[in-house]
Amino acid sequence: MFRLENISYYEILDSVTMELKKNVVSCITGPSGAGKSTILKFLNKMLIPTEGEIFYQDQPLQSIDSIELRRQAVMLQQAPVIFDGSIEENLQIGLKFAGEGPAQRNVLKDALDLVLLEKSLNEEADKLSGGEKQRLALARIFIMKPKVYLLDEPTSALDPETEIQVMKRFLKAVKEQNGTVIMVTHSKTISEKLGEENFYIEQKGKGR
Ligand SMILES: Nc1ncnc2c1ncn2[C@@H]1O[C@H](COP(=O)(O)OP(=O)(O)OP(=O)(O)O)[C@@H](O)[C@H]1O
Ligand SMILES: [Mg+2]
Repeated sequence: MFRLENISYYEILDSVTMELKKNVVSCITGPSGAGKSTILKFLNKMLIPTEGEIFYQDQPLQSIDSIELRRQAVMLQQAPVIFDGSIEENLQIGLKFAGEGPAQRNVLKDALDLVLLEKSLNEEADKLSGGEKQRLALARIFIMKPKVYLLDEPTSALDPETEIQVMKRFLKAVKEQNGTVIMVTHSKTISEKLGEENFYIEQKGKGR
């Protein structure tokens, strides 16, 4: 799906090469500050590498329209973005930004159920806990059904048990719709149990 060839970024990344396959759950791990979020941001052109080339479905990324790319490869940021308003409004807003019509209430409820968020659609999103907000953001991206999910530590605020349960359910559902997942995670359990391909990003300069 994505191929990174000798990607460097200032002093942060040094000649990273990796292939992120279609319909596969790829996990990226590594120490804090190693450049994991930076790599995800390359994939939807929020950042441009200083050296090297990235291909999306064998096309150089620079030849692909950013808006179209972001429709296909949707990013879940490391800090979940929650808008003023209800849970329902927060779920619908992803589709709205993508220029699509609203989803039906049962679709929204199924998405909340998928991420084990037992809240009513009318509740204020702002009142949710940090881990609940993360799950709301996950449900929002799921409803959008993108081709590629770019997930930056989507469940970092959950307890380990809930984290694995939620990700298991989420990834199973994504697989059923033939989605591709590229996920940054701090959790060894998640990458070892649920990652089909695992990549480790080293801290640059380590050992020098
Ligand atoms: N635009 C930028 N210009 C210069 N340095 C940057 C830029 N963006 C990020 N950095 C630096 O690059 C390094 C890698 O950042 P990044 O957010 O990719 O790390 P990470 O591996 O995701 O870390 P964490 O696990 O803490 O989220 C950090 O030291 C950060 O301060
Ligand atoms: Mg990060």
